[in-house]
Parts: sequence; C-alpha cells; structure tokens
Amino acid sequence: MAQRTPNTKNQILLSWVNQMANLCQPEQVLWCDGSEAEYNELCDQMVASGMLTKLNPVKRPNSYLALSDASDVARVEDRTFICSEEKKDAGPNNNWMDPDQMRETLNPLFAGCMKGRTMYVIPFSMGPIGSAISQIGVELSDSPYVVANMKIMTRMGEGALKFLGENGKFVKCVHSVGMPLADGQKDVKWPCNKDTKYIVHYPETREIWSYGSGYGGNALLGKKCFALRIASTMARDEGWLAEHMLILGVESPQGDKKYITAAFPSACGKTNFAMLIPPTAMKGWKISTIGDDIAWIKPGPNGELRAINPEAGFFGVAPGTSFKTNPNAMHSLSKNTIFTNVALTDDGDVWWEEMTETKPSHLTDWTGNSWTPDSGKNAAHPNARFTSAASQCPSIDKDYENPAGVPISAMIFGGRRPDTIPLVYQAKNWEHGVYIAATTGSETTAAATGTVGVVRRDPMAMLPFCGYNMDSYFNHWVRMGNKAGSKAPKIFGVNWFRKNAEGKYAWPGFGENARVLEWIIARVNGTANAAETPVGFMPKYSDINWNGLEMSEAKFNELTSLDASKWENEVASSAEFFKKFEGPLPSGFEKIQKQIVSGFVGKSETKFTEAFL
Ligand code: OXD
Ligand code: MN
Repeated sequence: MAQRTPNTKNQILLSWVNQMANLCQPEQVLWCDGSEAEYNELCDQMVASGMLTKLNPVKRPNSYLALSDASDVARVEDRTFICSEEKKDAGPNNNWMDPDQMRETLNPLFAGCMKGRTMYVIPFSMGPIGSAISQIGVELSDSPYVVANMKIMTRMGEGALKFLGENGKFVKCVHSVGMPLADGQKDVKWPCNKDTKYIVHYPETREIWSYGSGYGGNALLGKKCFALRIASTMARDEGWLAEHMLILGVESPQGDKKYITAAFPSACGKTNFAMLIPPTAMKGWKISTIGDDIAWIKPGPNGELRAINPEAGFFGVAPGTSFKTNPNAMHSLSKNTIFTNVALTDDGDVWWEEMTETKPSHLTDWTGNSWTPDSGKNAAHPNARFTSAASQCPSIDKDYENPAGVPISAMIFGGRRPDTIPLVYQAKNWEHGVYIAATTGSETTAAATGTVGVVRRDPMAMLPFCGYNMDSYFNHWVRMGNKAGSKAPKIFGVNWFRKNAEGKYAWPGFGENARVLEWIIARVNGTANAAETPVGFMPKYSDINWNGLEMSEAKFNELTSLDASKWENEVASSAEFFKKFEGPLPSGFEKIQKQIVSGFVGKSETKFTEAFL
C-alpha cells in the first residue's frame, strides 16, 4: 500500500520533498513503495476516475487503456530546454535559457500547480539496484498514470529508497500535469496544460522540471530526461557513455556469445531489431534482448566497455507491431500492460494499424469515437504506446539484470537511406566509427514537412537527447575509444532501407537482419573476409550466409553499390551539417572526409564490385 509517511532518513530528500510540497501545494503527499498492491490500487482509482479502461481480462489480463488529450500525444522537443549555466555548454543542438531566468519562469507555474491532487514521491533506480553502473532518481509527480508507468519502466519504490540510504545522491525530477484542481474543480480524464509545457534540465545540479504534459518522455522522467539528457552530462564528466541504443546478444550455433549495441533514429524499427528472430535457415543462431532504447556503457575492470539497460520495461510504439513484424513484442504486451492511445475493440481488447492483416469491422478509436475501416483515419494514434515489463519478453537475455552489465563487442549505427549508404560497412578504426555515428541520418519522407528526400542528420540518434554541446560529445566519444584501445568495440554502419531502381526496398529486413549480424560477429572474431573501400570494410556477396534467402549477386550489388558522386554529396552534406557546431570537432573528421572523396577518384560512375573487389 502506498505510504503516507516517508521510509527514509535521507535529509536532502526529505527537505526537498517538503520544499516542493510547499511550492506545489498538493492535497496530500504519498510515498510510493512500488508494490503490486499499490499498483493495483492506483489502477483501480484511475479506472474509477475514467483515466484508464480495464481491458478484457481473458484477452488481455491485468491490462489497461489510457486515452490522452489530443494536444498531448508526443514528446515536445521545441519545449525542451537544457539550462546549463553557459549557453555554449548546451550547444546549438539544444534550446537554452539562463537557469536563473528559467527558475523565475517555472516557479510561478509550479506554485500551487498540484492543488486538489496528490503528490506522489517515486523513488527509482535506473539499472539494477546496486549496480556500479546504475543511478538513483526520485520523481515527484501529480499523475497516478506516471506512477503506474514508472513501476513498469524502472525499479521503483522501497528497494531504490533503501539503496539510496541516508547519504546517497539522487537526480531530482519534478513533474506536474499543470492543471490544479482549485476550489473543487472537476478533474478530466487526461489532465494536462494545453497552453504551457516545459521540459527543463539543469545539468549542473542534475535536476529535471517538467510541466504541462502527462505523456511518455515528457512525464516519465527516468527515460529520455534522466537516462539520456542528464546521464549524458554525467557520462561526459565521469568517463562513460549514456546512449540512445538497444542492446542485444547474438549466440552462434557453437555457443559463442557476443553483445552488440545499435543506434537508429526514430522510425527505423529499433524495438524490432532488439527482439529479432533469426530466419529458420540460420539454424542454431539465437538473438536475445537486453534493451530496446537506452544503453549505459562504462569501462569494466579489464578496460572493456560494459553496458546495462537502465530501464526495466518497454515503452514501445504500438502501430506497426504485429506477430509478423515482432512476435517477441506481441508476447511482451500480452498481459500486465498499459496501452496509451491505441484503439479499443468491441470485446474489450486493443488494436492498432497493422496489428492484424484484416482490420476489425468496428472499434472505438484513440479519440474515443466510433471507428470503422471506412472512417478514413487511423484508429490508433501513430505514436500510440505499450508499456510492458522487459521480464515478459520471451527473448530477454539471462544477463539482462546482471549488475556488471555485458561486454560490448560491436556498435551499429544506421538510418533510413534509400541510396548512398550500403547494407553494411565496417569502420576502419574507432575515430572513423565515431564519424559514421556522427553522420547518421534518415531521409525525410513526410510530405507534411515539405522536405521530402532531405537527409536529416541525427548523430548517434542523440540529437534530441544529448544534454550538452554535440561537438564536445563527439570528442568525448573519441576519448572513450582511445582509452579502451584494442578493447574498444568494432563500429559498423548499416542501412536496412536501401531502395532498388524500381524504388522498392531492396532488403527484406526484420529477421533477415540476422545475416548481417552473423557477418558482423565474424568480423569481430576476425574470421570474415571484407573488401576495403573508401567508406569502410564491406562484405562481398560470398561473405554473407544466404542459406534460405533468395538473394542474387546482382540484387546484392544493388544493396551495396557505392556511387562516387553520391558519396561526394554525402561528404559535402555532412561537412555542412558539422558547420553548425562551434567548437572543434575531432581532428580526424576532416581527414576521413578527404580520404572518402579521394578514394573514389578515377572510379567515378563505377559500382562497388567492379571498383574495389
Ligand atoms: C522514443 C523515441 O520514444 O526515441 O523512444 O522517441
Ligand atoms: Mn528512443
């Protein structure tokens, strides 16, 4: 049961909670213990208030649906601030405001903002409790939906509070939906502030203040705000990496197990990749999941880089997820799951676009309205989510909770690129790998933005999440690799989204990506061939296991061809992108660019196979 009294002697925590309660003026303060009983009680309360709908217990045991306000459906990057003392420390990659000025802005907003509501005190550990890589945070929130989600997404409650002890340090996270219930005002199903939203980080004092939104990364402050923005600053200061990366294990039929991280910008199928099932023809190969979104990576005792997933659950995008695209995710969300902004079936289950081949004949859509396939609109919001425990994932790795983390052998970076970037290529050395990571990007497809076919660079998939100046971040990456020396993971670029001359995807993706992983592992082990090209080491047709997949050499060449003029543009566009950073970039970047361009000289208009093999 939720406690009304704190079970801690940590004076800094106690006085901070007191101070925030005085400012926010909640009706009561409730310290969360993280128990099942507390979770069930909160969910029952939310069902009673209309915030949650309990789903059919036969079809979707112990699961709920929340429908948000239409104005509160995603992270709000334009309302996200890094308030470092110096503007240059936030860099051109972040919105910045002077911290004193921001506090002056936020204080009046937070004054009385929890009137008529409960302030929940949510202690949590990012990472297994007690791991040397983990960190403790405490979130104060006036949203019971946040408490329930934090219970799934983090190690939340008594255990974290006990570990914090009397003197432990924690990241202070304050969150309000920004809709006080003064003078008996009636609550709404999804309280938020339609006009005013602020997601604010103070990197020097390791604080997060979030106002006005109840959705995902804006409100579950352990995730993007702490585990990426604040943690990346901690990592810079302390010599580790906080990255927007999935972590997976690959085991060969001979039992050789390696761990790999991968970073992809949004909409590249990160969760699918983290949980992929190899094709049946790759008999004996096993893929296991450590995490689908964030990796904290620290040098281990022998100098190797070891990673943990700081989260305990998945906050995955539902639309597009199906038994065809990701059976492991479908099993993970089969029970004990909170769904947000998906559609409700007439028999009390959930549905979203592409979940099944045939659309249900009738649904209640995410806006609460009646829906039929003829409605001409999506039944689920495109950013609809499921929150479910990582432990429910059939592919979860046995070392997912290992406090020592897992050793990382390779890192993969990729975006959505219809041309230029080959299926897979290996960096020539660590700094070249950092360059590949720093130039990662996806080509825009959304006609709505009016910028179809433009490459949006998203270095390390961290552009919205790096809590400090990105040029320092690139240099930090180079330093980390130099320190790790021969123990540094090998770096690879991939592109699952290359298109052929007919404009169709040339690579089947999904489980077939395991074939690329097999080559990557063999490169790590030094047992696979590769051709040296100006952009990196690449497999020849015969270097990849095609057993069970129809892939002619001609088709493979479409996936891997290197076009001199496209690469010249690629280098020029990357150089242009780098210009926005003021500080010095890693000294090797310019040399790498020159080498790429000069490597193609005299090979113009020729294709990869003819030119380099
Ligand atoms: C996420 C994201 O929600 O990267 O994980 O936007
Ligand atoms: Mn993410």
